[in-house]
Amino acid sequence: MTFTTIIEPFRIHSVEPLHMTTEDQRRTAIRTAGYNLFNLHAADVLIDLLTDSGTGAMSRDQWAGIQRGDESYAGSPSWFAFRDSVQDLFPFEHVIPTHQGRAAEKILFTAVGGAGKTVPNNTHFDTTRANVEYSGARAVDLVIAEGRDPQADHPFKGNMDLDALETLLSAAAPGEVPLVMVTVTNNSGGGQPVSMANMRGVREICDRHGVPLFLDACRFAENAWFIRTREAGYADIDVRDIVREMASLADGMTMSAKKDPLGNIGGWLAMRDDELAAKCRTLLILTEGFPTYGGLAGRDLEALAQGLREAIDHDYLRYRIRSTAYLGEALHAAGIPVVMPIGGHAVYIDARSWLAHIAPLQYPGQALAVALYETGGVRGCEIGTVMFGRQPDGSELAASMDLVRLAIPRRTYTQSHIDYTIEVCLAVAKRAESLRGLRIVDEPPSLRHFTATFAPL
Ligand SMILES: Cc1ncc(COP(=O)(O)O)c(C=O)c1O
Repeated sequence: MTFTTIIEPFRIHSVEPLHMTTEDQRRTAIRTAGYNLFNLHAADVLIDLLTDSGTGAMSRDQWAGIQRGDESYAGSPSWFAFRDSVQDLFPFEHVIPTHQGRAAEKILFTAVGGAGKTVPNNTHFDTTRANVEYSGARAVDLVIAEGRDPQADHPFKGNMDLDALETLLSAAAPGEVPLVMVTVTNNSGGGQPVSMANMRGVREICDRHGVPLFLDACRFAENAWFIRTREAGYADIDVRDIVREMASLADGMTMSAKKDPLGNIGGWLAMRDDELAAKCRTLLILTEGFPTYGGLAGRDLEALAQGLREAIDHDYLRYRIRSTAYLGEALHAAGIPVVMPIGGHAVYIDARSWLAHIAPLQYPGQALAVALYETGGVRGCEIGTVMFGRQPDGSELAASMDLVRLAIPRRTYTQSHIDYTIEVCLAVAKRAESLRGLRIVDEPPSLRHFTATFAPL
C-alpha cells in the first residue's frame, strides 16, 4: 500500500525552546535593529527563515562524528574521512577545506580573478559577485529569460542562457574569462535547478573556448533531486550517480557545506588542475589554515563527512523538496505572488508585484520582510534592490526582481511551524496595501544588506 502523506523521515532527538513575543515587542525590536532583520537578536525571532545556511539540525550520527573528531594539526583521520566523502561524490583530485563558501570564493578569485577579467555565472550569489568584483573582475549573470520572470513556468529556471554564454566567450579577449561558473541550484534566482542537459551545453561551449567550468555546488543534492524528478531519463538513476555526473562535467567547484552537506559550518574548493591547486593552497595557508583542516576543526570535518552521506538519501530529499513546495503552494493558492515553480530550499515571495504601490528604490522586499516579522515573528530575507541595487560605480539601480526569501532550514521546523508561517503571510496580505516603503539611513560600501539601517517612509 502507498500512502500520500510525505512524513519527516526522522524523529526529534533533542529540542530547542522557542521564545514567544508580542507584536509590540517585535515592533520595538525591529525599530532598534534599524529595520534590518540581520540586526535582530535571534531570540526575538519565532520562525527563523532568514537562511538555510548552517541553520539545519544535525543527525545523531553527525553528533557521534563530532565526538570522534581528531584534532591533529596535520593529517588527521577526520580529514581523510572528509576528503573521501567529498571525493565519493565529486571526484576532483584536489580538495581544499575552507571555513565556509565565501572563503573558497575568495581564494579562487584571488587566484584567477583581477582587473580586466570577466566571470559569467547563471546568477552569482551575493558573496560570489562580491569576491569576483573585489578582485577587480566583472561578474556577469547569464540565466535564461524565464529565470528572471517570477511567473514563467519552466522546470529548470536556473539554466544558463547558452547563446548568451557563447556570445560572451566569442567576444572575450584571450584569457579574459578565467572560468565559467554554474550555481546549483540558482539561489539568487529563486532556488531554481539547472538541468543536466544545460550543464552539458555549458561544458561544450567551455570546451570550444578552452575555458574551465566550475560549479557553485551548495545545493547539489536538491538540484540532483530535481533532475531525477523532472528531467527525462533520470527517474531511475540514484542521486549519487546524478551528482557524480554533474561533477564529471566540471573542472572544479566551490562549496558552502552549510547547505546540502548538512553542516553548521564548513566549505571547500576542489579542482583537477595541479597548478591552480598549488596556488590556492598557498592562499589557504595564509588565511584559513593547513591544507588538511582549512578553516575547520577535525570534528567539523567528521560532521560533514557524515552529512554528505545523508544529503543524498532519497527519503530525505523527497521530504525536503516536498516540504518547501508545501509552503509555496499554500501561498500561491492564497493569491500571494511567489516565484513559480517552487524552488528547492526556499519560497520566494514576489514583493515587487505584491506591493506594487512601493517603488523599487523604496525597497518593497525589505518592507515586506519587516511586516512579516512585526506581524508574526517570521524572519525572511530581502533578495532584491537592497541586496543588489548598489552598483560598483556607486549609483543605485532597481534589481531585476524584489523578492523576499523564506528559506527553510534543513530538518528543523515541523509542519505546524510552516502552517503558522502561512497564517502570518495571510495576515500580512490583509494589510498589504497599508505597508510603506523604507529609506536607507546608513550603508557600507559593499554587501550593504547585512548592515545597512533603514527608516520607514
Ligand atoms: C549559491 C551560494 N553560493 C555561495 C554562498 C556562500 O556561502 P557561505 O555563506 O558559506 O560563505 C551561498 C550562501 O548562502 C550560496 O547560497
